[in-house]
Amino acid sequence: MEFPKGVPWVRYHGIYKDLKVNIIWPGKDLALGVDSVGTVSSSLVTYASIQALQPDLIINAGTSGGFKAKGACIGDVYIASDVAFHDRRIPIPIFDVYGIGARQTCSTPNLLKALNLKAGKLSTGDSLDMSPHDEAAIVVNDATIKDMEGAAVAYVADILSVPAIFIKAVTDIVDGDKPTAEEFLQNLVAVSAALDNAVTQVVDFISGKCIQEL
Ligand code: ADE
Repeated sequence: MEFPKGVPWVRYHGIYKDLKVNIIWPGKDLALGVDSVGTVSSSLVTYASIQALQPDLIINAGTSGGFKAKGACIGDVYIASDVAFHDRRIPIPIFDVYGIGARQTCSTPNLLKALNLKAGKLSTGDSLDMSPHDEAAIVVNDATIKDMEGAAVAYVADILSVPAIFIKAVTDIVDGDKPTAEEFLQNLVAVSAALDNAVTQVVDFISGKCIQEL
């Protein structure tokens, strides 16, 4: 399998236990050299990967902000029960609901119980910081965690009927007193290690099971 020539997307792959595992990374922005974060690159790479690989399951693993008012702490690893957008404002009937794009994720009660992971709703937008409107929309979305990709990956997975789960490790407390970018960068290395560990446990749990057993 090959991605189109010139795109920054990267695929690592191999066999792990009984699983064919493909790790897809959106890669670095071709002009600026920074990670291709956000909904545009994540939806594109999700689409291309599903078309090429026809996966049985998508795991969207990444970092997120967390709300301490909802019980989130730095280093917590969440499985998102639901996803929605908080920065797509279309104040026309029904388009408003389309913009929010709320979806339930693939239910994984046994996985949550076995690995003792937290569950919470995820809200997605294309900004690391939070505008007053974003904040109000996140409250309406009842979100515990906030990221920049989840609901976009969920949209693509949904239209192509691929089950998807969302594993998010908390790098910063959105409703705390520290500046988000600073706190995010400070915790990124340690929290990525916690995410790595959780994803490994999730993949170990998945191996030998079908989706309905998760
Ligand atoms: N990823 C990590 N922290 C985040 C935040 N506060 N908002 C959006 N994405 C994030």
